[in-house]
Amino acid sequence: MYPTNHDLPVENRERVATILQTALYEALELKLRVKEAHWTVRGPNFSELHALFDKIASDADDYADDFAERSIALGFPVKGKAADIAGAVSLLPPFAPATHQGPDVLRAVIATVAKFAKNVRFAIEATASEKDAGTSDLFTGTSRSVDKWLWMLEAHTG
Ligand SMILES: [Fe+2]
Repeated sequence: MYPTNHDLPVENRERVATILQTALYEALELKLRVKEAHWTVRGPNFSELHALFDKIASDADDYADDFAERSIALGFPVKGKAADIAGAVSLLPPFAPATHQGPDVLRAVIATVAKFAKNVRFAIEATASEKDAGTSDLFTGTSRSVDKWLWMLEAHTG
C-alpha cells in the first residue's frame, strides 16, 4: 500500500482495489483476445471485423489504464504483467473460436465482451456499496462504452 491522505477508510479502499485488480486482469485479457481476433479473422467481412476488433482492443487498453490508475489513486499498487494475468482466475469464458471465419470469431468475441460487460455492471454496485462513488462512476462509464461495443458486435450477426 502507498501512503495517501485519501479519506475513504482503508478497509473500503482495499476491497475496492481488489475489485479493480480483477477488472484490470479482465480488461487486459479482453484486449489480448480482441487483438488476436483482429489478426486472425478471415472471410468476406474481414475488413470490417479487422477494424472493429482493433477499436475495441484500443478501448480495452484504456479501460485497463483507468482501472490501474484508479487503484493507485486509492493507495494500492496493481499487477499487470503477462505472468500475473496468466496466473489469475479468469471470470471470462474460454476464448477458442471454432475456426478463423468471421462468424465463429465474432461469436467468441461477443461471449467475452458480454461477460466483461456483466462483470463491470456488477462492479458498479459493489464499489458503490463501499462508498466509493468515484470508482463506481468509472465502472459506469466503462459499462456504457462496453455496452456500445456489444451492440456493434451483435449488429454484425444479422
Ligand atoms: Fe493491426
